[in-house]
Amino acid sequence: MSTASTSSLPGFESPRLGEPYLLTPGPLTTAYQVKEAMLRDWGSWDGDFRAMTADLRRRLLALTGDRKGEFDCVPMQGSGSFCVEAMLGSFVPKDGTVLVLANGAYGLRAAQTMTYLGRAHILIDKGDYLPPRGDDVAAALDAHPEITHVLAIHCETSSGILNPVAEISEVVYARGRKLLIDSMSAFGAVSLDVNEIRYEAMVSSANKCIEGVPGFGFVIAKKSELERAKGNSHSLSLDVHAQWAAMEKTGQWRFTPPTHVVAAFLEALRIHEAEGGVAGRGSRYARNRDVLVSGMRELGFETLLSDRWLSPIIVTFFCPAHGNFKFDAFYELMKAKGFIIYPGKLTVVDSFRVGVIGRMDEHVMRRVVDAARECLDEMKVDSAAPPRAALDERAKLAA
Ligand SMILES: Cc1ncc(COP(=O)(O)O)c(C=O)c1O
Repeated sequence: MSTASTSSLPGFESPRLGEPYLLTPGPLTTAYQVKEAMLRDWGSWDGDFRAMTADLRRRLLALTGDRKGEFDCVPMQGSGSFCVEAMLGSFVPKDGTVLVLANGAYGLRAAQTMTYLGRAHILIDKGDYLPPRGDDVAAALDAHPEITHVLAIHCETSSGILNPVAEISEVVYARGRKLLIDSMSAFGAVSLDVNEIRYEAMVSSANKCIEGVPGFGFVIAKKSELERAKGNSHSLSLDVHAQWAAMEKTGQWRFTPPTHVVAAFLEALRIHEAEGGVAGRGSRYARNRDVLVSGMRELGFETLLSDRWLSPIIVTFFCPAHGNFKFDAFYELMKAKGFIIYPGKLTVVDSFRVGVIGRMDEHVMRRVVDAARECLDEMKVDSAAPPRAALDERAKLAA
């Protein structure tokens, strides 16, 4: 099993069962207390569980800074994609048109969702990682008066880029349109304060920066939009208005809720709060990223993104050009040392990703860098420098 499980190390406790750290953007490594919270069974209709649901909704909402009571939080069963689909199907009118801003897999998935929904959309596809900028959005909105909504991805997890949602929001509202945000991998660690960034609705899920386990997601939306969404959804189970209305009336989820996951999530929220909320969580992740990136750069690895665009969520590194480097072998060697990394998603050059979210701190990140160094030695790779094509690709971001 893993060599990473050593309880005498500084910082957070290592995974108690000795499983590898998940350097992935969810599911991720969770605290033992979060897992332990799942040992008890709950009746989904019972008052105790209804109180847990109410608590969860209130605490999530508090993370948005909604002081005027304009927003509400609606948990939905399923993974993050279910929530994106629920948000699009509930808030975009059947005769509306969405401008989808894509720079990676999750933007493209949102566009594909619109196709499945049979509702109109226009796609700006910036390729693997270039950010959609305010000017791109302004030009599309001016050219297409039929656009009613814009969908932005907060952190595009497929490259790790932190997209400029504040800049996008300003352009959207200056032109009288509405913004929907997929903040799946960022919410809870990167601020999405409603007093600073205007939007109608956002989604995230349990197994990302709040550090819960998978099983549900949540939509946080303006109450006025929730009301307007009545009768608009294409789907019974993904109808955000219906879920909201039922929760308001009965305190219950409409269909079987993931009771144990909710219990775990409340423990995760307690830990999140104790860490200093969004700011505290965000600064630990930023430190994780900084330690990882500087250590990997010392080994000769290069990041896809320049520092300005690097999210504190996940980092893409180019694969070394060296003939002995094979990602599959590197993956297995890293796993044997206690770290599960993530394949890259770039279409042009080979890459891999390392997540920096989850129950781990800078001490762990130093061990990740040490493990990467050992793996290179074992593979007899004496330079981690990427191929020329990778650097040419990266130059596009600076251009
Ligand atoms: C930005 C973003 N959107 C959507 C999703 C899809 O979530 P899920 O895989 O839980 O369906 C993810 C998953 O990582 C994501 O990072």
